Amino acid sequence: MKEIAIIDRNRESVRKLEAQLRGRGYRVESYGDETVALERIGERPPDLVISELALKEHTGPEIIRELRRIAPALPVIIITGHSNTQNAIDSMREGAYDYFAKPLDTEKTLLAIEKALDLGSAGDGVSFTGEGDEAPLGHGSRLIGKSPEMLEIYKRIGQVAASDAAVLIQGESGTGKELVSQAIHDNSKRRTGPFLAVNCAAIPETLLESELFGYEKGAFTGAVSRKTGKFEQANHGTIFLDEIGDMTLSIQAKVLRVLQDKAFERVGGRETIQVNTRVVAATNKSLVECMKSGAFRVDLFYRLKVVSIFLPPLRERGSDVLLLAEFFRNHYNTLLGKNVRGISAEAVELLHDYHWPGNVRELENNVQTAVLLNKSGVLSCEDFPVYAERERGESAGRPGEESVDLHEAFHQVLAGRFASLCIDHKGSIYDKTVQDFERALIGLALGRVGGNQVRASKLLGISRNTLRNRIERFGGLDNLK
Ligand SMILES: Nc1ncnc2c1ncn2[C@@H]1O[C@H](COP(=O)(O)OP(=O)(O)OP(=O)(O)O)[C@@H](O)[C@H]1O
Ligand SMILES: [Mg+2]
Repeated sequence: MKEIAIIDRNRESVRKLEAQLRGRGYRVESYGDETVALERIGERPPDLVISELALKEHTGPEIIRELRRIAPALPVIIITGHSNTQNAIDSMREGAYDYFAKPLDTEKTLLAIEKALDLGSAGDGVSFTGEGDEAPLGHGSRLIGKSPEMLEIYKRIGQVAASDAAVLIQGESGTGKELVSQAIHDNSKRRTGPFLAVNCAAIPETLLESELFGYEKGAFTGAVSRKTGKFEQANHGTIFLDEIGDMTLSIQAKVLRVLQDKAFERVGGRETIQVNTRVVAATNKSLVECMKSGAFRVDLFYRLKVVSIFLPPLRERGSDVLLLAEFFRNHYNTLLGKNVRGISAEAVELLHDYHWPGNVRELENNVQTAVLLNKSGVLSCEDFPVYAERERGESAGRPGEESVDLHEAFHQVLAGRFASLCIDHKGSIYDKTVQDFERALIGLALGRVGGNQVRASKLLGISRNTLRNRIERFGGLDNLK
């Protein structure tokens, strides 16, 4: 019989989980005091430990380190009533198998428990990624948001921070890609090294190569002395390549070489320079689309996408929008020396309902303006630029949805092709049309969420199984534009 130890001072909060685990045939040992728990676990390790973070002596993820010390292969799942960005990042970084915020989603928690136990008995152990005894210096707490979508992002940051692997961050403009890349750096063992950001879209093509790789004296007119590039300057640190989709093919080739061999030559130079620079790249373009048009190298894409993070748009983060609005209100209150005490109920509703095509950046700008202009001490709808834009009907439409009458649009498309449809697909027009429509719809949804099937199925409002089934029916992902 598999044995599970639960460490939590608040027995009430885990009673339901405990009962369900017993019901599934596990032996459960519960401890309110971690000193007793650690002693027993050290003597006779169970198959899995579930632990709160806020304990008597241990008040954070150090409990994971302690457990790892006494039983290195023991899977640990964190459940906590004190969930925040940094706790989620640190827990995963310390090697927790998974992390959940209370109140628990019992179904999800049970699923993770079963998976962790399977892993244990398969003899794989759990790969721990912690980094010895250094205290975390993380800046993760600058990332605001408590939605399940963002919690997954924090966990992912914790998982990837410790390794040197390249990371690709995808997401719409203003979703926080730069902030996430900074959090990866700040939570990695490179955190004492440099973090340099290069916006590949903002620098003219001819300058970008020398900006990244440096140049030798005389490499071109005006190169009066040797200059090191960002890859060299970021040695032992992290380089953040923003808008990587805008990089030319020849620079992409050079970046690929750095990823593969950690080597490059300066512009106009012969000497091969070796660097130990971690690459984090970001894009708000679909690299799949760029590859199709030949503008992005397939090998570089696959090299980068091994570790990917998809940042959800703000409109998919539920009430995070209000947490962020409150955060920015406080921030700009201090910065602008104002005394805005709150946000009115109508304004809360406006912020909640608006679709934020510019994501967090647009929200931040709106709150900044509102705080600046406000006189009453409470932010009202009229204070926010999006309100006026909406009133004037100027606000950017939801991408692709701008008051389109779908039926009308389909009618037009079909009408133009109907004659040939009748010839080519006589007797099967219905199936053919509906299938092709479905295929286009699924392709668009996948493209929008960067290929993430869980998010695509959520977006479409179909089950993951249905989506998988359709992808298979259409002959795989390659057939979905
Ligand atoms: N989760 C968050 N918590 C707090 N601030 C955030 C969050 N996400 C983004 N921001 C803030 O929003 C602004 C935009 O974020 P950032 O520059 O990281 O976005 P981006 O995805 O890189 O955008 P772009 O694609 O336009 O470059 C920044 O001021 C950042 O500090
Ligand atoms: Mg950016």
